[in-house]
Amino acid sequence: MGEPEPVRKTHMNIVIIGHVDSGKSTTTGQLIYQCGGLEPRLLEKLEAAASQAGKGSFKFAWVLDKLKAERERGITIDISLWRLHTRRFSLTIIDAPGHRDFIKNMLTGTSQADAAVLMVSAAPGEFEAGVSRQGQTREHALLAYTLGVKQLLLCVNKMDLAEPPYSQRRFEEVVRGVSLYLRRIGYSPAAVPCVPVSGWTGENVTLPSSKMPWFRGWKVKRKEGFGKGQTLLEALDSLLPPVRPSNKPLRVPLQDVYKIGGFNVKNIAVKNLRRGHVAGNSRSDPPAAAAHFIAQVIILNHPGFIKAGYSPVVDCHTAHVTCQFAELFEKIDRRSGEKLEDNPSVLKSGDSATVRLVPKKPLCVERFFDYPPLGRFAARDLKQTVAVGVIKSVEKKPASITRKQAQKALLIK
Ligand code: GTP
Ligand code: MG
Repeated sequence: MGEPEPVRKTHMNIVIIGHVDSGKSTTTGQLIYQCGGLEPRLLEKLEAAASQAGKGSFKFAWVLDKLKAERERGITIDISLWRLHTRRFSLTIIDAPGHRDFIKNMLTGTSQADAAVLMVSAAPGEFEAGVSRQGQTREHALLAYTLGVKQLLLCVNKMDLAEPPYSQRRFEEVVRGVSLYLRRIGYSPAAVPCVPVSGWTGENVTLPSSKMPWFRGWKVKRKEGFGKGQTLLEALDSLLPPVRPSNKPLRVPLQDVYKIGGFNVKNIAVKNLRRGHVAGNSRSDPPAAAAHFIAQVIILNHPGFIKAGYSPVVDCHTAHVTCQFAELFEKIDRRSGEKLEDNPSVLKSGDSATVRLVPKKPLCVERFFDYPPLGRFAARDLKQTVAVGVIKSVEKKPASITRKQAQKALLIK
């Protein structure tokens, strides 16, 4: 009582993606620090612990990289989330791993994101490694786009390591190179703010940098209007708020299960609830398992040929379920969407196709058009993302007794 009601800011999820070691965690840690989200005492502690482990350069990364294995190996393994307030938004920053072994975690983070920051290193050789065939820069950008993350921000990091340091030429070279790929993927480079920073020294993260007097700021042209600014923080603050379909039936993909006093899920044991399940309202278009679904997929990496019967793991929202490519309907031109071939016998890397998928275990997915976050997925095999896809239609399983019970149970009190 008597306290003024705090102004409610729009919430957005931002995923930080990009090639391994490009400085995603460091820049995120620095951003959190400069925004006052981290006590100086805590940073001192991290600094001491990191240098004792011979990993002094990871002090900012350790704000996000908390697992023992992450700290020992100097890489991010799982996503970590951090709340940050900008002038307009309440952001949840999702720091994703760049290492290809943990792409599943990157996809989980990206599947929840409203916008992505693509981190690219300007250090000699690092930008080139990131955009090479083995690199993650292009793969991450394509995955983000295909998974429906249409707002992107390009952060050109490690400007202190550019040759010469803070070089305008290097910045422009990186922007030109990345823009080329972004355009091919489907992003409009004119709508992408391109911000030079050093996550390590903190240049241009929240305050304009005297080291880059040549940088007059980023500018964007979107159909919603023009935007401009100087720093990474301003670029985040300039994002367009997501349109949340609050009038649609409820869908809550479970990320994890906790016991919290006060919050109660009726009629279902904790042990029967797990990550990947979807809760909804039993009286309004309740969630149901898919018998099969039709999707448009892009084959990213596959050493040979994909035939009907192929069964990779599908990562959709928070679920990871093996699904069979039951039928290959048609091969299409990714750029124009035109049909190239009916009932192709095989698909290979680079192909785009309409296919029917059959989940091997219960999986709740939806049409992208109806519920975007439940309608986009990635397929994995051999530690690689084999394909990404968008769901065009879903044939749901008829309601069984158990499902009816489950629907009732998932009514959240
Ligand atoms: P993954 O999560 O494993 O993909 O890596 P990452 O992109 O989060 O990179 P991380 O922040 O862990 O940084 C990797 C290394 O690059 C660390 O040694 C950092 O100190 C260093 N680094 C990151 N940003 C900068 C920068 O702007 N300048 C300099 N000099 N080093 C940086
Ligand atoms: Mg990291």
